Amino acid sequence: MQKNHLQIGGVDAVYLAEQYGTPLFVYDVNQIRERSRSFTRTFESLGVDYQVAYASKAFSSIAMLQVAKQENLSLDVVSQGELYTAIKAGYPADKIHMHGNNKSKEELEMAVEYNIGCIVVDNFYEIELLNEILNQRQTNMRVLLRVTPGIEAHTHDYILTGQEDSKFGFDLISQQADLAMEILLKYDRIDVLGVHCHIGSQIFETQGFIMAIKKIYETLARWKEKYHYQSQVINLGGGFGIRYTNEDEPLPLNEYVVKLVETVKYETEQRDLDLPEIWIEPGRSIVGEAGTTLYTVGSIKKLPGVRKYVSVDGGMTDNIRPALYQAKYHAVVANKINETVEETVSIAGKCCESGDMLIWDLDVPNIESGDILAVASTGAYGYSMANHYNRFAKPAVVFVENGQDRLVVKRETYQDVVANDLSYE
Ligand code: LLP
Repeated sequence: MQKNHLQIGGVDAVYLAEQYGTPLFVYDVNQIRERSRSFTRTFESLGVDYQVAYASKAFSSIAMLQVAKQENLSLDVVSQGELYTAIKAGYPADKIHMHGNNKSKEELEMAVEYNIGCIVVDNFYEIELLNEILNQRQTNMRVLLRVTPGIEAHTHDYILTGQEDSKFGFDLISQQADLAMEILLKYDRIDVLGVHCHIGSQIFETQGFIMAIKKIYETLARWKEKYHYQSQVINLGGGFGIRYTNEDEPLPLNEYVVKLVETVKYETEQRDLDLPEIWIEPGRSIVGEAGTTLYTVGSIKKLPGVRKYVSVDGGMTDNIRPALYQAKYHAVVANKINETVEETVSIAGKCCESGDMLIWDLDVPNIESGDILAVASTGAYGYSMANHYNRFAKPAVVFVENGQDRLVVKRETYQDVVANDLSYE
């Protein structure tokens, strides 16, 4: 372990790059555990019934789901592939919740077959499909009704939209949600546990959540009157923001939980309802900051007086977020961690596309070909959105914990890349 090297979870990052090759996703497992526990401990301390479901779309692999299971998290899956991974990881089926705005018959059948914890119903088509499956199989299923409360939260601000224009869930304004509820309550094989909403992602304040809870409670109060229905569960989704660069100022995770619980308790009392279980489903805030991507620096192109392009051996194939959302990242040179800043460079990916830039204007020490660049906070929606553009093989993933490193997803080979190609000769 060298002094001038970045350490991740007690392991030398340069050693990891040499040992496993680059690009490489490295997760500090202690951070994943700590972040999970800051949610669960806060709920425990507030004495309410709760579930924290890890949104596995942020990063799903068998090892990751095993860590989530060890931390007693429930699990949010949005596809058959994510459900399959959960089953392979030995996830207790009753802790799995299934999302999706267009669940197929096969997906619903698999969810019913494994008798997962609940299905978050999203639309009328799905309600009918699910009911048919349940009747055919003579079995029951628990559901949450996904509603769109007309609040969209974005990082620092939120937008109140009258008619919610979203592909997800049932509208509260035009009373689509009421209609859905009427249908669900008629179906004997469906047990409606409660409501779900998700107002957005990478949110830095609590106001949007508070507004959503208030909107939902207007509906819950109406449902008590209209249908004598009381919600046992209110699921407020995920979306808690993280730090990518120093420009980001996320709230401590416990603050979100405290505010959500406070607001739900207050609204419940005001409207004379029974306190429901409070569920959340964070993804990014559990794995985002725990992940770092290591790259090797290759070609360096100097445009005097304009810019210096430093190319690395990955790019939009392992992190599409800068290209897709103009997302910003911070990075350090892992083998020159104590050296002073000497220049400002831009980090380019190696895909055949000008838009494949990972970071514009990064301050670095004298950077050279062969250096190891460590991009921070790549743990969420990096590997999970990785793709084969330009026929790149997907990177490996390594977990580090208490000074030990362990390969948890193998690097793809080029044989893997062509594995499904068939000859036309
Ligand atoms: N629950 C539902 C219903 C969701 O749609 C999402 C994210 C989550 C939970 C988890 O949200 P989180 O805590 O991770 O913010 N690919 C984008 C993010 C898409 C989020 C989609 N839904 C990105 O890279 O920023």
